[in-house]
Amino acid sequence: MTIDELRERIKAKKAEATFAAQASLDSVSLEEARAKHWSRTEQQSFSKLLSTLPAADRREAGQLFNDLKKHVDGAFESSRQRWADGERTTASATQSLDLTMPARQRWIGAPHPVTVVIDEIVAIFRELGFTVALGPESESEWYNFGALNFPADHPAMDAHDTLYLGEGALLRTHTSPVQVRTLQRHAPPIRILAPGTVFRRDPFDASHAPAFAQLEGLAIDEGISFVDLKATLTLFARRFFGETTRTRFRPSFFPFTEPSAEMDVECQLCAGKGCSACKGSGWMEIMGSGMVHPSVLEAAGLDSERYTGWAFGMGPGRIAMLRYGIPDIRLLYDSDVRFLQQVAE
Ligand code: PHE
Repeated sequence: MTIDELRERIKAKKAEATFAAQASLDSVSLEEARAKHWSRTEQQSFSKLLSTLPAADRREAGQLFNDLKKHVDGAFESSRQRWADGERTTASATQSLDLTMPARQRWIGAPHPVTVVIDEIVAIFRELGFTVALGPESESEWYNFGALNFPADHPAMDAHDTLYLGEGALLRTHTSPVQVRTLQRHAPPIRILAPGTVFRRDPFDASHAPAFAQLEGLAIDEGISFVDLKATLTLFARRFFGETTRTRFRPSFFPFTEPSAEMDVECQLCAGKGCSACKGSGWMEIMGSGMVHPSVLEAAGLDSERYTGWAFGMGPGRIAMLRYGIPDIRLLYDSDVRFLQQVAE
């Protein structure tokens, strides 16, 4: 053995034993590592090696060995300390653990049921080529009524009383003005969904709110007929409520559609048998719809001889109530997070 060889061996041992000490997983594996990589016999065989060296090198060799011992012993000692501390903490934690204590729950937030419903509807229509369009909540009388074929002072406006903001502006009473804004800006074919908040002079009771969400749909192209309306909305209802859901269309009236229809789906709470939620009818109204009135197309600058289309408007809040069995619309405006948490679960 030469001093050069000894230097190499000491260097290798230092790396190996230090690593073994640091890589241990608990006090048991630490002791195993010590037995394997830094045993007393091994240390003795190192000191024996020293005596085989030429006298001139022994001093340096002694220093190298002392340094090795200090370093490796230190590594084992600090790992030993680490496991001793950790095991002491775990032991005391186990002793003071009260398994009957209720778990601490963290509220991390959840999407509102109305948002969940809007997102799902948008996802279904996106597959059919619809994109989302938005319009302002503060709207002009012309977009909210005039362009939508409400004659001045028409009784249909009574159901749409709202806050007038002055200078011909009002809080929009429906999302239908987005139809007109879209038709003015884009050439057909058009397929859009317009979600948004609308406002009406309605009481705040179990089934009304003065501000609520609406979701408008509009499809305009050459050759679109009522068949497309019925087929698309029926497909939507089956996708949203379930493949076997029955639907029906009832004649209705809106100034901006002709013909117009209300669409009903089988009551989701009693499966069509009749219950208090559907007032015994077995049906629930989910949206107003119809073929876009030629005067709406003309008001937006489109040739109504060439283009036709259909539109619908629904209340995602109402749909959320149907789906989750929420009995009172005011719960949707409640700030109690325990209510929202149920949707998240
Ligand atoms: N805007 C109508 C409402 O608020 C709903 C609707 C939209 C009806 C589109 C037909 C077509 O009552």
